[in-house]
Amino acid sequence: MSERKKTAILISGRGSNMSALISAAIDPRFPAEIALVVSNVPEAPGLARAEEFGIATAVVDHKEFAGDREAFERALDAILKDNGIEIVALAGFMRLLTPYLVNAWSNRLINIHPALLPSFKGLATHERALEEGVKLHGATVHFVSAEMDDGPIIIQGAVPVLDNDTPETLGKRVLEIEHQIYPKALELVASGGVKLRERRVVFTDNETEDTSARGFVSPLSR
Ligand code: GRF
Repeated sequence: MSERKKTAILISGRGSNMSALISAAIDPRFPAEIALVVSNVPEAPGLARAEEFGIATAVVDHKEFAGDREAFERALDAILKDNGIEIVALAGFMRLLTPYLVNAWSNRLINIHPALLPSFKGLATHERALEEGVKLHGATVHFVSAEMDDGPIIIQGAVPVLDNDTPETLGKRVLEIEHQIYPKALELVASGGVKLRERRVVFTDNETEDTSARGFVSPLSR
């Protein structure tokens, strides 16, 4: 078996996407090994969850860097390097990154966003999707670029927006899709199954490189 890629997950909160990635990587055939979970929030519930899984954890508290984002990122980067990390997956990591970290981890840094990018960048995505009346909403895993919620899209999952949805019910439906697509995206990146053609991510295991084959729209039940 080829070497599994040592992966770190960066979190700030509950870590349900983190748990989905860890669960997928329990299978020894999965091409990524989750070697480390790092949080910028010492009390993030996801840290305890990671420890239950037996994963090493670390905290780099951004508050200790007095607003110096790059100093915070240098500390983070040092921990990642000390642990031999090869891929970094952001999973509810609530810090805007500077070009320092983005460039240091170029093409090896991925993020999940709870909307179909480039729609609804930023926060409160489910509220805004309902306000705008979109009929499909979803989630996106993408390589991270220096812009917020931007960068080449690896995989997207869509869900229907139902007439009686609230931000909570819609968010729950999107979260289920997140837990499906994030492990799939990490698998693709860790196995070398994707490459960049300018801004487009194309799939190397497909001779025709037909990206449409990876689209996913949940069944529309009504
Ligand atoms: C998810 O909705 C993710 O898309 C967004 O932040 C949320 C994190 O949730 N970036 P969790 O901590 O993974 O449960």
